[in-house]
Amino acid sequence: MTAKRERLKLGILASGRGTNLQAILNAIDAGSLAADARLVITNKPGALAADRAIDAGVPHQLLNHRDYENRLAFDAALVRALRAVGAEWVVLAGFMRLLTPVFIDAFAGRTINIHPSLLPAFPGVNAQKQAVDYGVRLTGCTVHFVDKGTDTGPIIAQRAIEVRQADDPDSLAARLLPVENDLLVDVLRWIAAGRVGLHDRRVTISAESPE
Ligand code: GRF
Repeated sequence: MTAKRERLKLGILASGRGTNLQAILNAIDAGSLAADARLVITNKPGALAADRAIDAGVPHQLLNHRDYENRLAFDAALVRALRAVGAEWVVLAGFMRLLTPVFIDAFAGRTINIHPSLLPAFPGVNAQKQAVDYGVRLTGCTVHFVDKGTDTGPIIAQRAIEVRQADDPDSLAARLLPVENDLLVDVLRWIAAGRVGLHDRRVTISAESPE
């Protein structure tokens, strides 16, 4: 008999629209992701992501980075809030702030990010515009562990889509978004099932167990 695995205790950080957050909340609600959203933190007043958390009955805090003296103080507040609710894994779901080692070290190997390109191509902001401007024929999205660089952490999973001749950054972003939402939830399912390993920057995904 195998011991019953605990549900993932998630903290989710978002800055804006929150479709990735919504995908996570929907999957939890549908019973297809064995996780509890312990806390959603937004850092910008008026972010739609906050409404999504509140509508789902998930605890939410606005921690406005402008209220803190510097990045370190803001990151320390994030860590305190997440620890206070017992969050063990953190998802950056459209969180548009660079994190310092104060945060990264506190949740090392337990923080993941979704990025709208096939890393290492097009890190940073406006990845879809970077892809259109460069003229690549394929782009996609990446879920990776967060390390101290910008979008440089060990890659867990990627999904590709075609860039069409007629695409502009907005049409490409719109077509990519549902792919991102699905990939992020899939990766969380693998983590919840204990299938994702990280050793010396190498990610392993073990086979699904038959239980
Ligand atoms: C997504 O494109 C994500 O890849 C990027 O920021 C965007 C967030 O979208 N990091 P949403 O707020 O989850 O709708």
